[in-house]
Amino acid sequence: MLIPEARLRARVRSLGQRIRADYRGREPVLVGVLQGSFVFMADLVRAIDLPLRCDFLRVSSYGERTDSSGRVRLVFGAAGSLRGKDVILVEDIVDTGITARRVLGMLRGVRPRSLRLCALLHKAGRTREAVRIDYVGFRIPDRFVVGYGLDFAGLYRNLPYLAALEGAGLGVQLSR
Ligand code: IMP
Ligand code: MG
Repeated sequence: MLIPEARLRARVRSLGQRIRADYRGREPVLVGVLQGSFVFMADLVRAIDLPLRCDFLRVSSYGERTDSSGRVRLVFGAAGSLRGKDVILVEDIVDTGITARRVLGMLRGVRPRSLRLCALLHKAGRTREAVRIDYVGFRIPDRFVVGYGLDFAGLYRNLPYLAALEGAGLGVQLSR
């Protein structure tokens, strides 16, 4: 167990309150990166007391490796137009930073009015590409984590808390 359910709930609630304060009078569009962000996103939007919209996109890194290859491909994009919108990209975790940087770059290309990044987790020690995270839930050590939407080989997304995989050696490198 790394982060119990109650701590997740409290932190997500306070992120929601900050976003509400920052976006007062606006109608932001929260764009979740599938699949990992879906649990966080569901809780986060319910913690933001504002009119808002939800959208999702999906990316894949080439190859089944944990070390981002740096090649991030958009599998499907947001369903609605994000042009001129106040967009908040919602990620489960920023690890090397490669995925978030690529996706932010793609989103900038559709000319939103504003663009910010919200990530539940940040493995700061692994950053290879600097990325500014406007809203971060928890900074965590370099452990492979599962639960609350995050998976290992597709499993554990339904854990209501965040856990570190024990004995995580090279095997977990296959999980992406
Ligand atoms: P980055 O491009 O290295 O920042 O990778 C980010 C993506 O890798 C996340 O969106 C996750 O899908 C995945 N990822 C990185 N670390 C973990 C972890 O500890 N558990 C589960 N997925 C992870
Ligand atoms: Mg992800």
